[in-house]
Amino acid sequence: MTTLAFPPVSDLANPFLAAPKPPTVAPEVAAAVTQGLLSHPKTLPAWLFYDEAGSRLFDKITALPEYYLTRTERAIFLEFAGEIIERAAEGHALQMIELGAGSCEKTRILLAAAAERQDTVLYEPVDVSAAPLEAARERIEREISGVLVAPRVADYVRDLAHEAPLSGERRLVLYIGSSIGNFEPCAARELLMKIRATLAPGDALLLGVDLVKDRMLLHAAYNDASGVTEAFNRNLLHRLNRELGANFKPGLFAHRAVWNAAESRVEMHLESRLRQMVSISGIDALMEFEAGETIHTENSYKYHPGEAESMLQAAGFAPAQTWTDARGWFAVALGRAA
Ligand code: AVJ
Repeated sequence: MTTLAFPPVSDLANPFLAAPKPPTVAPEVAAAVTQGLLSHPKTLPAWLFYDEAGSRLFDKITALPEYYLTRTERAIFLEFAGEIIERAAEGHALQMIELGAGSCEKTRILLAAAAERQDTVLYEPVDVSAAPLEAARERIEREISGVLVAPRVADYVRDLAHEAPLSGERRLVLYIGSSIGNFEPCAARELLMKIRATLAPGDALLLGVDLVKDRMLLHAAYNDASGVTEAFNRNLLHRLNRELGANFKPGLFAHRAVWNAAESRVEMHLESRLRQMVSISGIDALMEFEAGETIHTENSYKYHPGEAESMLQAAGFAPAQTWTDARGWFAVALGRAA
């Protein structure tokens, strides 16, 4: 009995059995995939993770025992929501906007704290997919009286505009969950400057960032024992199969998540287990992957204490106050538009 180091031929992506061209191809997806997979090394942008299946997998990640981020930020909100809202409002009524809101799960704590201090709170969650926003609107308006939800379906990186503030109200933009961590430092600064440009002096930004910590903890958070993060990473390939008529065999790509200390980020990659060809009919591409070649799918930056405040400052916000958990794993920093 011999063991083959190679998978059976039937498991290999066969360029001569290319999947048919899908009837419609989203131009942003096609452009991003063309650009990313023709680069050396190959990359794909992290926003591609969040189709319907990917968003569901991310929600599962937030509940994993190893994934401390969501739980830790929620604990900070549970302890300090009143203080955060008071500091942001400075005696005014608040209108709240959340960028990349998703299921709005943690935000409910802040909304409840705001609703205790004013008659009505206008809350504008912004996200690319409508369904979770609609579900959140229904649930929030039912459970937290005094909160009015006005969801906006948009890509906040490209299209950043908020409802005009009611007179005398202050706006508080929430950019939490360490979403900023997906951006390279200079793109992060640009995004914060864009946010600043939509605000008036006195308005505020609440920024949630994940902090540098023991590398074992970081490693575990992105290599969970139950394989949800692996499925989340590989869902990218399923998505390209579905939307671009690609013929990836996702099982022939291994999930890799590594801490890059020099760059202060966890990197996720998909590593080709063998030399293979993949066709992507929706963009008329046939491409080769060497054995061990990777697609870089995500950077998740981790920050040192004080860094959130310097990012805020560089973007035109005066750091007002920062809250952290007792272990110093996560930070929530408030900046005031100067
Ligand atoms: C949503 C960008 C904060 O970087 O931790 C979770 C995404 N990637 N597991 C993160 C993610 C792998 C997450 N952010």
